[in-house]
Amino acid sequence: PEAGWTVSADVIVVGSGIAGLTAALRLRQRVDRVLLVTKTVLSEGSTLWAQGGIAAALDEKDSPEEHLRDTLVAGVEVCDVEAVRTLVNEGPARVRELVALGAEFDRDANGEISLTREGGHHRDRIAHAGGDATGREISRALIAALHAVIDDPGIQVIEHALVVDLLQDKDTRVCGVTLHVIGEGEVDGVGAAHARAVVLATGGIGQVWSATTNPSVATGDGVAAALRAGAVIADLEFVQFHPTVLWLGEGSSGQQPLISEAVRGEGAFLVDEDGVRFMQGVHEMADLAPRDVVARAIVDRMALTGTDHVYLDARHLGREFLEARFPSIVARCRELGFDPVTDLLPVAPAQHYASGGVRTDLHGRTTLAGLYACGEVSCTGVHGANRLASNSLLEGLVFASRIADDVAGRLARGELSATTPEPPSGPAALVPAARRTDIQRAMTLGSGAVRSGDGLAQTAKTLAVVAEDGEQAAPGPLSWETSNLLHVGQLLTHVAAMREETRGGHVRSDFPRRDEHWRAHIHAWREPDGSV
Ligand code: SIN
Repeated sequence: PEAGWTVSADVIVVGSGIAGLTAALRLRQRVDRVLLVTKTVLSEGSTLWAQGGIAAALDEKDSPEEHLRDTLVAGVEVCDVEAVRTLVNEGPARVRELVALGAEFDRDANGEISLTREGGHHRDRIAHAGGDATGREISRALIAALHAVIDDPGIQVIEHALVVDLLQDKDTRVCGVTLHVIGEGEVDGVGAAHARAVVLATGGIGQVWSATTNPSVATGDGVAAALRAGAVIADLEFVQFHPTVLWLGEGSSGQQPLISEAVRGEGAFLVDEDGVRFMQGVHEMADLAPRDVVARAIVDRMALTGTDHVYLDARHLGREFLEARFPSIVARCRELGFDPVTDLLPVAPAQHYASGGVRTDLHGRTTLAGLYACGEVSCTGVHGANRLASNSLLEGLVFASRIADDVAGRLARGELSATTPEPPSGPAALVPAARRTDIQRAMTLGSGAVRSGDGLAQTAKTLAVVAEDGEQAAPGPLSWETSNLLHVGQLLTHVAAMREETRGGHVRSDFPRRDEHWRAHIHAWREPDGSV
């Protein structure tokens, strides 16, 4: 889009979850001018909704090596071991820094951080806050730290700003963004921000499907913008469906209420409509098997019993424990008419997390010079085919810190000197916002929890019709977001059709087994002529 105004900074950070806030705060310690842009307000985003916690080998009986082992097993042989090693080795120190910054984690009687267990972990290593409101507390602490420096002219925040596209110089180096700001403030409407480096921390892609645990802002903006700019996107077919999302009836769409895996970590278990504990015998860890195993077992059970949900039984944990340990979940369930103290909770899998994204190295550098990515938008290689529970907040924290150190070091060495952006081109054809549900429905049908060659082909066809179908939408945040959903959905469907096996979050009914040939990553990128 044509920019009506321009701002500039040394570094632009896009997104204000744990990754974006950590990057911005740490960059400001060493860089003169940091610009943080976020689509709605600072606190909105997936971090706020994270329940279970943040995984790190904090207990003296635990070790990064054991955390590494569990992460690799969950990732089904396609994690990048060096990336996982970085995550688990640096994780404990980064979590302690978060505590020093003011994040208040739940403590045991001895004043030590309480640690719980979730699927795929062989140790209690999940730190949590407010019982089941870990993300809320982390977000609060990071935003408080930002507010403490908000009068510092070295850090500028623009809220209500959708980043539309990346700006690149004649050599494709990323040197800024175009953005649409809605609201009152120093800038409004379409503008441009120029910088020596851009950090994407835009979060997930959940709104590509009809039902997801992700908030409404998770429209894949970062993956779509990076794709259009020519960056490599990796592992996009590996989508995690969380096993226990409160089932609200057929057709319910948008963000769905999550029942944290930590509820199973504290002893709740799954049953079918006849009361059978069907996870026993499926996996040695039963209800605490890795997330893809549990989600798939639920899908199988629903097919076997002809139902669209199973049940989570937490009643034996008792009122006092449930209300103290899971206050937000209990309150939300009650608002929706279910009481975990007395009722079985109907649950079914829903989209939860993108294990792939914009490919990065161990410093968060993408394949485009000047562009970095961290958090859910990125693919650092730590998740492989299926992210281990509670590794996502940790990944955001660890790799955002590494990015801040790398960018600051390069700027200090005179690298990434200022350059001139070429005029922006913007998405070729904007998709009307009214087509959003068509995209979500097609993705849910063909590119959802269980896929097949035929289903993927049908979804690709429907998405192609949406892409080519007629009326050009007026430029604006809703049509830009809808275009992003389409571009992410099309690429995901394309790579999911290529992977003819079942592995982690990628389940193919026509290729139900793992295939050694596919023990590899799919890297995809868009050529300047639009071909992928
Ligand atoms: C949960 O609390 O079950 C979600 C944790 C995660 O996604 O890692």
